[in-house]
Amino acid sequence: MAHAAARSKRRLTVISNKSELINSLNMANPRQRWRVYKTVALMFLVAVLMISVFHRGLNSKRGDLQIERNARMQKETIKYWKEKQDKFIEASVEPLYERDVARTWDITSTNCSAHTNISSTEGFDALEQNFKQFLLYRHCRYFPMIINHPEKCSGDLHLLMVIKSIISQHDRREVIRQTWGKEQVVDGKKIKILFLLGTSSNEVEKANHQKLLEYEDYIYGDILQWDFMDTFFNLTLKETHFLKWFSTYCGNVRYIFKGDDDVFVSVTNILEYLETSENMKDLFAGDVLFRAKPIRRKQNKYYIPHVLYNKTHYPPYAGGGGFLMDGPLARRLYLASEMLNLFPIDDVFLGMCLEVLQVTPIKHNAFKTFGLMKDKKSKMNKEPCFYKSMIVVHKLLPQELLDMWRLVHTDLVCTQNLELLQEASKIRSNFN
Ligand SMILES: *[C@@H]1O[C@H](CO)[C@@H](O)[C@H](O)[C@H]1NC(C)=O
Ligand SMILES: *[C@@H]1O[C@H](CO)[C@@H](O)[C@H](O)[C@H]1NC(C)=O
Ligand SMILES: *[C@@H]1O[C@H](CO)[C@@H](O)[C@H](O)[C@H]1NC(C)=O
Ligand SMILES: *[C@@H]1O[C@H](CO)[C@@H](O)[C@H](O)[C@H]1NC(C)=O
Repeated sequence: MAHAAARSKRRLTVISNKSELINSLNMANPRQRWRVYKTVALMFLVAVLMISVFHRGLNSKRGDLQIERNARMQKETIKYWKEKQDKFIEASVEPLYERDVARTWDITSTNCSAHTNISSTEGFDALEQNFKQFLLYRHCRYFPMIINHPEKCSGDLHLLMVIKSIISQHDRREVIRQTWGKEQVVDGKKIKILFLLGTSSNEVEKANHQKLLEYEDYIYGDILQWDFMDTFFNLTLKETHFLKWFSTYCGNVRYIFKGDDDVFVSVTNILEYLETSENMKDLFAGDVLFRAKPIRRKQNKYYIPHVLYNKTHYPPYAGGGGFLMDGPLARRLYLASEMLNLFPIDDVFLGMCLEVLQVTPIKHNAFKTFGLMKDKKSKMNKEPCFYKSMIVVHKLLPQELLDMWRLVHTDLVCTQNLELLQEASKIRSNFN
C-alpha cells in the first residue's frame, strides 16, 4: 500500500511538472481541456486555410512570387502549430480523444433488484451463499461504464489485447505495459491494449484505489471500467461487457487477444500465428479443453452444482488465461451471449457461446494457460527458450515476468529442438 501510494505520488509530480501549459487553462476536467484545445486548434487551422485561399484568389494576377510566399507561410504556420500540438500531447500524456462517436454505451443506470422468486426453485436453499447470490442477480446483465475509451479502436487495428485485471493489481498492469503490452506498430500492423476492470468489492479499497485508478488511466488511457463488483463469479460479466463494448466501438479490429494479467505473452509469436491463419474464418484458438467435466467437489474453486449445470460435459472451451479470436467472430459471440443465461465460470460460458454458433475452438500447443508444468519445481518453468517458443504462458508474477522477458529478449541462443524440449517436459510432468 505504502509502496503504491509513493508510486502514484511520484507520478503526480511528474504530471504537474509537465503540465504547466494545461494548468494555465485552469479547468477542472482534463478531457474538457483537451476538447477545448482541440477545437481551438481546428478553428485556427480552418481560419488559416480559408484566409490563404481567399488571399490567393484575390492576388492571382500578382504573379508567382506572392503565391509562393503564401504557400511557404501557410506551411510554416501549420508546422509551427503541429509542433505546439505535439508538445501539448507530450505534456498532457493523453492520447488523442475522439469521444463523440455516434454509437455509445447505452447503459446509464443500474436498476436491478434481486429476483427473489428464484429462491422458491428446487434446491436453492441447499446452495452455498455465493451461488445464491449469483442466481438472485443473474438477470442483471449490463452495468454503466465508469471509465470508457471509445476512441481506442479508431482506425484499423490489427490486434487489440484485452486483459482482465482488478483495481489493486496495478503492479501487474505496469509490468505488462513495460513488456508484452506495449502499444506499437509492427510492419504497419497496429497493436493496442486495454485493461478490463469492475469496481472493488471492498469499501475501504474502493475509496482508496478508485482515484489512483483514474490517474493511472489519465496517464495511460488504457482502462475500461464498469460499475459491477470485481468478484470471481462476476468474471462472466466482464466477458459479456467486453463483447458488447467491442460490438459497439470496434468496427475495424482484425484480431483480439484476451487474457489474464499474470501471463507471459509473445506478441511476435501471435503475429506469426495470425499470419499463417490469415484465411481462416471464425478463428478462435487457445488452450482448449474438450469434454471437460463439471467439478462436483464443493471444496474446489470451480465447483458447479447440478442446479446450475446438469450435463456431464462442458462444450469445448479455451482457458481464459489467454486466447485469440477474430473481430467478426467476437461480434457474433456477443449476439450468442445474449441468448444464454449467464454461467459463473467465464471461459466455460464463452465455450457455450461458441457452441451456439457451432464454432469449434482450435487447440494450439503454444497456449499454456493451465500452467506450463504440473511440477512447480520443473526446470522447464524457468527455461527462457521454452518461453520464447510460446504464445502465452500462465502464470507469472510481475517480477518473474520482468525477469523472463529480459532473458527472452537478450541474445538468447536456443540450440535445442524446442519440440523435443516440450515433449521431454511433458513426459517428465506425467511422471510427477
Ligand atoms: C427501475 O425499474 C423499475 C421497474 O422495472 C421502474 O419502475 C423504476 O422506475 C426504475 N428506476 C429507475 C431509477 O430507472
Ligand atoms: C421471477 O420474476 C421475474 C419477473 O419479476 C420473471 O421474469 C422470472 O421469470 C421469474 N422467475 C421465476 C423462476 O419464476
Ligand atoms: C456482481 O456485481 C453486482 C453489481 O456490483 C453485484 O450486485 C453482484 O452481487 C455481483 N455478483 C456476484 C456473484 O458477486
Ligand atoms: C437439466 O436442466 C434443464 C434446464 O436447465 C432442464 O430443462 C432439464 O430437464 C434438466 N435435465 C435433467 C436430467 O435434470
